[in-house]
Amino acid sequence: MRRGRRKFDDDDADFLKISRLEPALHEDPDLPEEGDRWSTWDGALHGPDPRPDWVRTEHGAVDTELGMLKTGKEADVFLVRRELPATGQVSMLAAKRYRDGEHRLFHRDAGYLEGRRVRRSREMRAMTNRTAFGKELIAGQWAAAEFGALGRLWEIGQESGLVNVPYPVQLIGTELMMEFIGDWETGEAAPRLAQVRTDSDGLADLWRQMTDALSVLARAQVAHGDLSPYNTMVHDGRLVLIDLPQIIDVIANPRGGEFIARDVNNVANWFRSRGLPVDAEGLIERLHHEAGLR
Ligand SMILES: Nc1ncnc2c1ncn2[C@@H]1O[C@H](COP(=O)(O)OP(=O)(O)OP(=O)(O)O)[C@@H](O)[C@H]1O
Ligand SMILES: [Mg+2]
Repeated sequence: MRRGRRKFDDDDADFLKISRLEPALHEDPDLPEEGDRWSTWDGALHGPDPRPDWVRTEHGAVDTELGMLKTGKEADVFLVRRELPATGQVSMLAAKRYRDGEHRLFHRDAGYLEGRRVRRSREMRAMTNRTAFGKELIAGQWAAAEFGALGRLWEIGQESGLVNVPYPVQLIGTELMMEFIGDWETGEAAPRLAQVRTDSDGLADLWRQMTDALSVLARAQVAHGDLSPYNTMVHDGRLVLIDLPQIIDVIANPRGGEFIARDVNNVANWFRSRGLPVDAEGLIERLHHEAGLR
């Protein structure tokens, strides 16, 4: 039988006595019987409400690392299973771990730090000098920016039904954990748009989904900022936008209109190369209008 909530054993006087007499010889009492560790849900920042019902919030949930999905320029993405052993309820998560490597300074640094110069000066110095601490801070800001962007777009997607992003489950420091987009049984990730082969009807449908998503973003006055056939996944025929840490506020950013145009051209070129004649210029004009830029 599974022993009850061992996570809290440290608070238990008996446990302390026993552990002093018998230091754990063969097992670590801080670890669950199943999984690699207890769920890191407690103590993390959580995604927006209403939370999807598959999100496991229970104290007894355990996490199991299933390996790396992809190593990227700025982050590595891992597959993690979060499961409640008592009921067998499983959620599959993509853990995006930002490396404290050579990130650009976070683009909102200046504004973010203004007015907090004194309190933050040590952090600012560490970041501009790229000390180990400074790099960690920068990586954490990118993770937080992506967590915020996913939350915002997820809410817009819930309202409009016209844009899909992975649900952002939680954020801890430089690690963002989100809904795994792919087969939850086999752990196989959905293909990226760049890898998709489909007929002209399929292409036209994907382009329609793309223009719908871009319209919703424009009306929310944001641009993805790095949209491409690599930062778009196709899951069960549905487009899912990913990789959003650099989301652009197209009103505040003086080059907002250019970012919209660049996003459109990146994906329009791919559709054209597959043989679908798409009107990128017309779409850019419409999106600028929808964003209130002209
Ligand atoms: N939620 C997710 N579900 C499944 N797979 C994901 C998820 N998020 C990311 N991936 C996989 O990890 C890859 C890298 O993710 P992402 O683009 O967010 O990171 P990145 O560091 O910018 O990578 P790159 O440098 O390749 O663009 C994606 O192309 C995709 O294959
Ligand atoms: Mg990417």
